[in-house]
Amino acid sequence: MLYSEKVMDHFEHPRNVGEIENADGVGEVGNPTCGDIMRMYLKIENDIITDVKFKTFGCGSAIASSSMATELIKGKSIKEALELTNKAVVEALDGLPARKIHCSVLAEDAIKAALVDYYEKNGLELPDEIKDFEPHEEH
Ligand code: FES
Repeated sequence: MLYSEKVMDHFEHPRNVGEIENADGVGEVGNPTCGDIMRMYLKIENDIITDVKFKTFGCGSAIASSSMATELIKGKSIKEALELTNKAVVEALDGLPARKIHCSVLAEDAIKAALVDYYEKNGLELPDEIKDFEPHEEH
C-alpha cells in the first residue's frame, strides 16, 4: 500500500475545508514544479488559533497534509503553530512516500505564510521563526 490509512482517510474526508470570512491571517503558497496551490485561513484570538480552514488545489497528499496540519494547530497557540514542521505532519499521517514529501512542505509553508499575514495586518513585529520566511522553492 503506497499510502497509509490516515492519508487515505484525510484525502477522502478532509477536515476543515473551506474559507473563513474576515480571517485574521491568510496564506497562500504554491509549488512551481507540480503547480499545486494551498491556501490557509486562520482565526486568532488572544494568541490562540480558534479556527482554521484550508483550500488545496492539488494532489491527494497535499489535501491530506493540509487537513492534518489544520487538525494539529486548531486550538493551539501561535507559538505551537510556528513550531509545526512538515515532518510532524508526515509523522501524524503515518508517513508519505518520498516523492510526496514536498506536499507536506506546502502545509507548513501555508501556515507560516498565514501567520506572517496576521502579524503584518496587525502591525506586529514578526517572531524569529518567520522573520525571514520565504516559502520553500525546492521541495
Ligand atoms: Fe505537488 Fe503534491 S504533487 S503538492
